Amino acid sequence: MQESYGYLNKIDKDPSNLIKGLQAVQATEGYVSDVSIIAVADYFSLPAVEVEGVLSFYAQFKRTKPGEYHICVCDGTACHIKGSTLILDWVSTELGITDGETDENGLFSLETVACLGCCSLAPVLSINGKVYGNLDRKGTVKILKEYRNK
Ligand code: FES
Repeated sequence: MQESYGYLNKIDKDPSNLIKGLQAVQATEGYVSDVSIIAVADYFSLPAVEVEGVLSFYAQFKRTKPGEYHICVCDGTACHIKGSTLILDWVSTELGITDGETDENGLFSLETVACLGCCSLAPVLSINGKVYGNLDRKGTVKILKEYRNK
């Protein structure tokens, strides 16, 4: 196993701990890369295809490296009713990426999520955990420009 995956050594090598191992990779790397799949498979003595199968089953695991600014567009019920699909369209158009993608500069990544817990501000999005609410097109584009120019 590569030294950079030494943090896995805190987890028992029993294959029943595979999910814990993948969670550790994601917590450390921000996503689970192809290289990480091989390292995890090696660590738990499992075929890489089996690790990939588990990864694809659980939505919690990201396969794409997040951008410097990770945008979560809320599509919970309150936000959906107030136009979250429009927010997603505006962000996608402005950044040239769709749900689950990272832009080619690695600056922005985009994800649709369930309720962010601030429904009274619907529709909302968050960027690296900072929440922006009561969004309209102008406000959404303005926020993205601010991050682009940081
Ligand atoms: S539904 Fe979007 S914050 Fe609750």
